[in-house]
Amino acid sequence: MFGALNPDSIAWKVAERAHEEGATLTLTNTAVAMRMGETQKLAEKLGTIAISADATNVGDLSNLFLKSIEYLGGKIDFILHSIGMSPNVRKERHYSDLDYNYLNKTLDISAVSFHKVLQTARKLDAINEWGSVVALSYVAAQRTFYGYNDMADAKALLESIGRSFGYIYGRERRVRINTISQSPTITTAGSGVKGFDRLLDFAERMSPLGNATAEDCAEYCITLFSDLTRRVTMQNLFNDGGFSSMGMSLLALQQYEKGLHKDCDCGEEGEQEHDLE
Ligand SMILES: NC(=O)c1ccc[n+]([C@@H]2O[C@H](COP(=O)([O-])OP(=O)(O)OC[C@H]3O[C@@H](n4cnc5c(N)ncnc54)[C@H](O)[C@@H]3O)[C@@H](O)[C@H]2O)c1
Repeated sequence: MFGALNPDSIAWKVAERAHEEGATLTLTNTAVAMRMGETQKLAEKLGTIAISADATNVGDLSNLFLKSIEYLGGKIDFILHSIGMSPNVRKERHYSDLDYNYLNKTLDISAVSFHKVLQTARKLDAINEWGSVVALSYVAAQRTFYGYNDMADAKALLESIGRSFGYIYGRERRVRINTISQSPTITTAGSGVKGFDRLLDFAERMSPLGNATAEDCAEYCITLFSDLTRRVTMQNLFNDGGFSSMGMSLLALQQYEKGLHKDCDCGEEGEQEHDLE
């Protein structure tokens, strides 16, 4: 399980839920995250180990798989890739003024790392036949969302890697690969997105079933790890309360109408031009 930083992390909930279902698993995160975050605490709670690895580093990933196989006493049945980070978002670089070194980092950490995980696992033959790999995505891969910045491009690439590798790994070793496109969720990574609280509220009003929580996402992951979904592969699956199929809902329309009777409080004019695209 990649990406459990603290109890808000989606990966944290997935690890807890998988443990509840009787899975044995290992946790991993970057060395910095392991120092600053609570990955180790979760490992103790679940009676397992946390192995540090930077998911952009193939050497780290090889070591991670070998140690995991040794600890687990056999090959792996399921993997969760729950990794995302954009230095452009962090440093508030506008999408029309990206720092390209940052963009390379965004793509490497948030998308290419998925390829590195899959390629390393395949070379080591680390995953059992009928194993399952899931990565977490967001609907900004298909449609434009204000403030999501270069993470939208990273998610589009992530989903494409899932399909491309899904073909190879499925055909050769019957390993399935899917992405789950999750509702906005309050976590460390999520809260970094500009206007996140309003995005969360908008998505809640737009979704007939309401936003999917991290716990909901964990349950969906378990179905994909289980043998009950053996021939589901190369899919991007929405766990979003219906948001991705909506155009306008009554609840969102009512909220919008309230705003129409007030002057827009959108900041200075210059800022508006730059910001309100
Ligand atoms: N929170 C949301 O609104 C939301 C919505 C849809 C999809 N997602 C996706 O869910 C996934 C998990 O994010 P989260 O919301 O739980 O936030 P989070 O901040 O708890 O998790 C992100 C994790 O990525 C790890 N990470 C960063 N760089 C890494 C690297 N080089 N190698 C290994 N790990 C690294 C971090 O240490 C952290 O544990 C991400 O892919 C995110 O884009 C989140």
